[in-house]
Amino acid sequence: MKYISASFYCIVFLLSTFAILQSSAKVHVHIQNRQGKNINIHCKSKDDDLGYHNIENGTEYSWSFNPNFWYTTLFYCAVLMDPDPVWYHFDAYRQSRDSYRCESQCLWAILKHHSLIGYNQKTGNWERFFFRSDRLL
Ligand SMILES: *[C@@H]1O[C@H](CO)[C@@H](O)[C@H](O)[C@H]1NC(C)=O
Repeated sequence: MKYISASFYCIVFLLSTFAILQSSAKVHVHIQNRQGKNINIHCKSKDDDLGYHNIENGTEYSWSFNPNFWYTTLFYCAVLMDPDPVWYHFDAYRQSRDSYRCESQCLWAILKHHSLIGYNQKTGNWERFFFRSDRLL
């Protein structure tokens, strides 16, 4: 009985160490503006407001964070593309969707005509995504 509980605790210890190491690997999000004009971006999570940033065409905005243990990390962004008075929304990192496709680097590019592509680190392909838009400024 003693041995069983010792190995049980050992397994629990190893599993939690593994889970903590997995979830604490830093993820870097990069959002490139290839739209042709300056854009304004505002990204947030439940706990962090990253503020409003102006990104010139041909440059990028980036930040990094540690995804959480429960796979619920979510950073969402709103993008304003002059002269369109609409905020376009997308999830820049949703852990349940992205923990595999962008394990350490989450690259996004905003192209002309409100096109959005995201880089899949596992396959090496750029994938098409879509903004959600609303009429609230
Ligand atoms: C915007 O940036 C991209 C990438 O650097 C560049 O290829 C393009 O010519 C730029 N467009 C304008 C209008 O400056």
